[in-house]
Amino acid sequence: MAEVTSSAVKKVTATVIKSMRSTGEKISMLTSYDFTMAQLVDKAGVDVILVGDSASNTMIGNKTTLPITVDEMIVFGKSVVNAVKRAHVVIDMPFGSYQTSKEEGVRNACRIMKETGADSLKIEGGLEYLDTIKAIINAGIPVMAHLGLTPQSVNKFGGYGVRAKEEAEAAKLISDAKLLDEAGCYAIVLEKIPASLTAKVRKEISMPIIGIGAGVEADGQVLVVQDMLGMTQMKLPKFVRKYANLDEIITNAVSNYCSDVKNGKFPDENESY
Ligand code: KIV
Repeated sequence: MAEVTSSAVKKVTATVIKSMRSTGEKISMLTSYDFTMAQLVDKAGVDVILVGDSASNTMIGNKTTLPITVDEMIVFGKSVVNAVKRAHVVIDMPFGSYQTSKEEGVRNACRIMKETGADSLKIEGGLEYLDTIKAIINAGIPVMAHLGLTPQSVNKFGGYGVRAKEEAEAAKLISDAKLLDEAGCYAIVLEKIPASLTAKVRKEISMPIIGIGAGVEADGQVLVVQDMLGMTQMKLPKFVRKYANLDEIITNAVSNYCSDVKNGKFPDENESY
């Protein structure tokens, strides 16, 4: 039975998350992008809230994560930070905010931290961005790494399929994970890779792995909150488990409201002054 440390802490820090690997307590992580949802997710006791650049899809309706800007991430980040008491809030650095140079990466990282009050940042990529990631950590910002299916590189990959099935890509992923671990990242997201590879990576690094479609060997799991609550209006990947069907609940509630308004049944006496 895992030793439970995180429920005892008032605020989940990057250090607490890192230590959860050695205590054996699994890390629960979900996305949120707004005040109301983040309040509920925090109240339910999740360890980490990710203000993912998936906000580009879920909140803005873009087809990919590429168009979302630093300014937009700051608005979503602030609303989540304003809501959260206990969970660790990590914000994605969006596409274009760190790929151009180390200096621009550090400048944008500082700006996101300063203007949102977040606890840490998540950055996609390995060796290519190692110097930037090191410089951001040196600036005092905890960094969560992200390898495997990194959606900001969807155009390079040509789609959202399972990554690192071939030996060469798996070897690069292991090597990148080791470099990011040595650089001082406090955790790493591994997305949509074979479960057997997650187990191999885990043996090579000391930071915890948070998986999404990466099997049960990971030290924690993350899902997009709208997907696991059954709100998303598109076919979901098989790694998503639906814990609710809010689509039906919301659609029924809204449809009942509309018919009550149309039929003069809302408001009633108790709802009037
Ligand atoms: O942006 C996001 O939601 C993510 C998760 C899928 C890990 O990066």
